[in-house]
This record gives sequence, structure tokens and C-alpha cells, in this order.
Amino acid sequence: MNKRSVRDLDVRDKRVLVRVDFNVPIKDGRVTDDTRVRRALPTIRYLIERGAHPILISHLGRPKGEPDPQYVMDPVAERLEELLGEPVLKLYAAVGHEAERAVEGWDGRGVVLLENSRFYPGETKNDPELSEQLAALADLYVDDAFGAAHRAHSTTVGVAERLPAAAGLLLEEEVDYLDGVLEDPERPFAAILGGAKVSDKLGVIRSLLGVADTLLVGGAMCFTFFKARGYEIGESLVEDDYLEEAHRLMDEAGEKLVLPVDVVVADRIEEGVEAQTVGVDGIPPDKMGLDIGPGTVKLFEEHISSAETIFWNGPMGVFEIDAFAKGTEGVARAVASASTESDATSVIGGGDSVAAVRKLGLEDEMSHISTGGGASLEYIEGKQLPGVAALPEKGA
Ligand code: 3PG
Repeated sequence: MNKRSVRDLDVRDKRVLVRVDFNVPIKDGRVTDDTRVRRALPTIRYLIERGAHPILISHLGRPKGEPDPQYVMDPVAERLEELLGEPVLKLYAAVGHEAERAVEGWDGRGVVLLENSRFYPGETKNDPELSEQLAALADLYVDDAFGAAHRAHSTTVGVAERLPAAAGLLLEEEVDYLDGVLEDPERPFAAILGGAKVSDKLGVIRSLLGVADTLLVGGAMCFTFFKARGYEIGESLVEDDYLEEAHRLMDEAGEKLVLPVDVVVADRIEEGVEAQTVGVDGIPPDKMGLDIGPGTVKLFEEHISSAETIFWNGPMGVFEIDAFAKGTEGVARAVASASTESDATSVIGGGDSVAAVRKLGLEDEMSHISTGGGASLEYIEGKQLPGVAALPEKGA
């Protein structure tokens, strides 16, 4: 990555405002998936070990610019303290008199965790006043929140412009892996895309078609391609406004775009419902396609097992329901064995595919699992992420 790194900063005895992405699921006051907290630990530990005093800030959920008890950072503070093994001083504000006084009086042990940045209306507006107030709390700024880097907010952009700034270790790792996929992938490069809508992933499809050798498409979005081809798709999800676009993509991509050859269909999306496998040109008019079929898993496996680089985003079916989970599982296992057995580089691009990998306990087999859903897709699309763009270049 060509941005200044936390490793380039002299952090000793400095207060370092660290933007982390602690936007984690919480149930009954407890963090139910602490992955993002764990992934921020290397930067936090790096800073503590070098005598710095990290002041952490994150958003949590989408509160409406004012305090909301549902989204306080307390459960995150509790989990962070357990994982870090250092004291976490949780504040009830992020800026203002109370936060300033608490930071002034802090003994500098462990870390400070500020309150949810989205409790302030200025956060999502990248408000200069809020950015000034945040910057006043620290000497340096480190951005480790790759998952929020597609947001041009006060804590991702405004502060970076007001303090000596650098990328954290996680943000660097994320960008390096995604750059590796986009810029100089070892070939063959197989990309796998799933999910419900073609419209959500048009930019990603175009970008991947430009760089990958094969684009394997599963998930409900394939029914828009099938309808564009003139097949009966029954009650399957479809985007009629995108049929022409789907046609164009298939024409342009030729053999590079690999669609399913069979699908699992049922009457409805429900646990225990009767499911059957049919060819893609044989979907009954009263059924909907809810997963890729075993023939498709085999076909996708062949492409995946011979790939040297793999990028995967989006489930192949409704994997929360057992009857429609086999496609996603098959792909996850194929990617895991290509990574471990043939040493392929595998990058899992956030969101539901990460949940599927985790459900199967395959996290450790993948080369890189992104902590950013929206951010990794925008990066793959070729968009500049404001949080990354705001950081100074190396040597600047
Ligand atoms: C995410 O979960 O994708 C990031 O934390 C960004 O959250 P947001 O979509 O609410 O900005």
C-alpha cells in the first residue's frame, strides 16, 4: 500500500486517535460476533507496545445522530477488555467537555474507547467542527476501519485532514490483498459472485470481468441472466429492469461468465420445505430457484481447484436454510481446499459469504477474509474509498 503506515509514525508517549470498525452485532447486551474487534487488536497492541496511548473511536449501527441506548459502545468495551487483556476506559461521550476532561485525566494505561461516533449529527456529514473537536483529543490519527472506509465521515476523513495520519495494520492488509487481486493476480484467477441482485453488483461484475479469467455467478442474480436468455424461471427472483444489461454482459463476457447448469427449486423459502434439483432450462412455472444444484457445484469446483487466485463475494443460495445451503457450502469448501492444498490466494469479500465461511469453521483456511462488506465491493469496483484517499502517501 502506498499510504503512510502506523509503522512510519513515532508514536511513543503520543495520544493516537484510532478509527476502528467496531460495528458488530449485539444481542442482549453482548457482542455476538467479535471478529471485527479481534481484527483490530494487532494495531492496538502495536501502539501499546510502543508506548502510545490509543483512543479508539467507532460507529455502531445506524442511530440517528443522537444518543440511542440500543447503540452504546459498552458491550464492545467489555469484549475488547477481555480480548485485549488491558484496561478499557469507556467514555459516555466522544467529544466535548466530558470527553476532553476524561482524556486529560486518563492515566494512559490500556486504551480509551469513545462513545458511538454516530451519536453526533456531524459524523455522517463530515462536519468540520466535530472533526476539530475529535482532532483536539489526540496528537496522531490512525485509520484501521477498512469496513467504514467507503464512508466520507468525520471520523474517517475529517480527522485525517487535521492530524498527522496513517493507515493501521488491518487497513493496510485489506488494501494489499484487494490490490493483489485487482492489479497483479496469479493466474488463473477465478472470481465467484453470488447474492440477490444484478443491480447491486453491476460495477463489481464489470470490474471482475476485466481482470478475472473466469467469473462464476450463483445466487438469485443468475435468474435475471436466465430470463434474459429466454428461460422459464418460474417464481424465482428477477430484476426485469436489468434484462437488457444482463444480455449485454453475457454477450461481452462470452465464456468467461459461467452460469449454473442446475438449480435447487421449491415452492417457498421455508425450513423443511420439499426441494428438488432441476436443469436451468427446466424450472417449473410454480417454483422458485433457491440454490445452485450439485452439477453446478461440481462445475464451479473444477474452476476453483485450478485457480491460483480466488475472490468470492455473495452466497450461492439461501444458505440460512439447510435445504438451500449446499451450494454455498460446496463453494466454501472448494475455496478452502484450493487455498490449503494448492496454495491459491483466496480473498473473501465480506458480508454473507464470510458468515457462510464462519458457519463451516473454514476461516483459518482462507488467505484473507475482509472485514468490509460494502467497502470491499466498492474497492473491487474500482472506486476510491474516501477513508483511504484521505490518508497521506508514503513519504509525504
Ligand atoms: C459495515 O458494517 O459495512 C460498516 O461498518 C459500515 O456500516 P454502515 O453501512 O452503517 O456505514
